[in-house]
Amino acid sequence: MKGIVLAGGRATRLRPLTLITSKQLLPVYNQPMIYYPIQTLIKAGIKDILIIIAPEYSGHFLNLLGTGENFGAHFSYAVQMEPKGLADAFIIGRHFIDGDDVTMILGDNIFEEDFSQEIQNFKSGAMIFARKVTDPERFGVVEFDQNKKAISIEEKPTHPKSNFAVVGLYTYDKRVVDFAQNLQPSPRGEIEITDLNNIYLKNGEMKVNLFESLWEDAGTFDSLLRVSNIMAEKHLASQK
Ligand code: DAU
Repeated sequence: MKGIVLAGGRATRLRPLTLITSKQLLPVYNQPMIYYPIQTLIKAGIKDILIIIAPEYSGHFLNLLGTGENFGAHFSYAVQMEPKGLADAFIIGRHFIDGDDVTMILGDNIFEEDFSQEIQNFKSGAMIFARKVTDPERFGVVEFDQNKKAISIEEKPTHPKSNFAVVGLYTYDKRVVDFAQNLQPSPRGEIEITDLNNIYLKNGEMKVNLFESLWEDAGTFDSLLRVSNIMAEKHLASQK
């Protein structure tokens, strides 16, 4: 199983902070944001990790993270010149993936959960994780039938069909590269991870795991502050 941390994009929502650095390098309490998704992959047993970054501040990522040795892992890097969409990670990362299974995590998604069991048990197809939220219209949203079987995923729907958001952690088999290469850009001009997920879902090859523990997409001022406070409290509690 290979790992990808997608840490590009322009992060316009966090300006002016992101005029001088990348979102994923901003502090979440006492660590740069990107440490959290990296730790989530490593906790799940994934040590061979490609970090995809935007060209601006790319050197800062290398200075901070280096070879990965300090994390007990091996890091490679790739530059995404334009934010073409989340699914572009599998096109950029195709040589790195090299026929293996791959788990991608978004560089601004913060979890506490240990996903090692699900990820280690992955066999084929695709696997996503979903969590109940109060603002599903901000995310990819899973629709379930009466038997709690996932039947569709919609990207930022105006009228969400459930409260379950798809979080930024995705596991695929090697076919993801071909599927990504055949996607058409959405009306917002991106190749969408939701379109990729719907391919697997329609083939009956998508597993949706629900979980309840902490998840934050730290891409707004409010969520960044919230997750920083949560991490500070946890840190203090662990010192007692
Ligand atoms: O956080 C979970 C959500 O992430 C999912 O529920 C949605 O289905 C998924 O589309 C995505 O939505 P966002 O609106 O949060 O995506 P955003 O454009 O903010 O990108 C997520 C991260 O990926 C962000 O840290 C920047 C990075 N990124 C984004 C794009 C479009 C890249 O590195 N390259 C890109 O081309």
